[in-house]
Amino acid sequence: MAVVDENTYRNLAQKDLEHLLHPQYYAPEHQEPVIFDHGNGVWLTDVNGKKYIDGLSSLWNVAVGHGREELAEAASKQIQKVAFTNNYTGFSNVPAIELAAKVVSLTYDNMGSVYFTNSGSESNETSFKTARFYWNLKGKPEKNKLIARERAYHGGTLATSTMTGLPPFWKYFGPLVPNIVHTQAPENPEDSIGEPNSDGEYASWIEDSILREGPETVAAVICEPVKGAGGVWTPSDSYFREVREICDKYEVLLIADEVITGFGRTGKWFAMERWGVQPDMVSFAKAITSGYIPMGGTIVSRDIRDALKDVPADARFMHAYTNSAHPTASAVGLRNLQIIEDENLVQNAQEMGDRLGKGLREMLTGHPHVTNIRQLGLIAGLSAVEDSDSNTPYEPSAGIGFAIQKHLREEGQVITRIVGDNLLFAPPLCVNSDEIDQILSATKSAIDAVTL
Ligand SMILES: Cc1ncc(COP(=O)(O)O)c(C=O)c1O
Repeated sequence: MAVVDENTYRNLAQKDLEHLLHPQYYAPEHQEPVIFDHGNGVWLTDVNGKKYIDGLSSLWNVAVGHGREELAEAASKQIQKVAFTNNYTGFSNVPAIELAAKVVSLTYDNMGSVYFTNSGSESNETSFKTARFYWNLKGKPEKNKLIARERAYHGGTLATSTMTGLPPFWKYFGPLVPNIVHTQAPENPEDSIGEPNSDGEYASWIEDSILREGPETVAAVICEPVKGAGGVWTPSDSYFREVREICDKYEVLLIADEVITGFGRTGKWFAMERWGVQPDMVSFAKAITSGYIPMGGTIVSRDIRDALKDVPADARFMHAYTNSAHPTASAVGLRNLQIIEDENLVQNAQEMGDRLGKGLREMLTGHPHVTNIRQLGLIAGLSAVEDSDSNTPYEPSAGIGFAIQKHLREEGQVITRIVGDNLLFAPPLCVNSDEIDQILSATKSAIDAVTL
């Protein structure tokens, strides 16, 4: 049932066009917007009464699904007690203390402390600044460069856009931030050591970059365990073990950008557990609060934490956000993690992800217009091509990917996202097998309808 009449919808759409600038803004995409009204579990309903499966957990973040009253209650209780208090210089609050301890207990064994932020971008900024700060404390200020990877996404601030290895995010925003460099693909990838990732990348490309820049100038390497917004590209089983060895060899910190993969998405609380690798810092956001309230953070190793604890007053860590360790966001985060634990959602992510991956492979392997299906836990991607030699560049509103996405939404009731001709899936961790099967059959129908 429509929540508003046709006139009201038109007025809202017009106001949106006039007054609301959207992320990745391109006005033609907002002529007839889907205007959401409410949600429940994996389902979203728009103001015209149309229901959709939220196939990407909105923006990879609504881990526990929509409409959770427990989270509304947690926020309401904390706001009634005290919504916000200062966390600078000697002040703290109970939910943030409890949440920091909880996050550390869920992550890698070498981790020590958490610095809370408001977003994934701020988390990656924090990780980069912390890496530089750390090397300054160690008497190596020349170690200040960051190595990032092609096809990775790290955020929307100037430094994190620079880290992002997707050129469309740089266009017209230059000059970019200096001392952030990207891995360069060697001329002969077949000469590289190890197994390639699903996008053909090798760990040795990171070593090449460190050597090219000079190890004495490199502070850190930043990697998404699974490249998400760049198209869902999964690593080989050996990739992060090799990257860890390379970082250790050249005294370079390893930052895991787990903004998408953190808190269960890959079937582990944090993704590098899958390969027995411990990073030095973890950037997180999104699923910490399932998007019910903005929050992010950087988890630092005990080694980095100890270095920060030991500084004299004139070398204090002058990095600050008003909302760092926000009490209400922390209360929501705590309750959200409890839901993930109580409902075994990390394990569900693994099981439902395997069902999704198996289904995609069974339905689409050998399909004349589908190449390269990948999945790890509850994150999956596939490439759809007009013919096996073509691929459209990163362009959200053109090409075959766009046509499939539109069909999926309009006919199949599934909302997903595309990057060029790559279709991405990451439904909420609470998704059930019927809902996965609906995503699968809608995907097959959409691909067939558009390509055959
Ligand atoms: C891996 C990764 N890092 C960082 C970010 C930036 O997070 P935010 O948009 O919350 O600033 C994103 C956002 O999608 C992301 O996917």
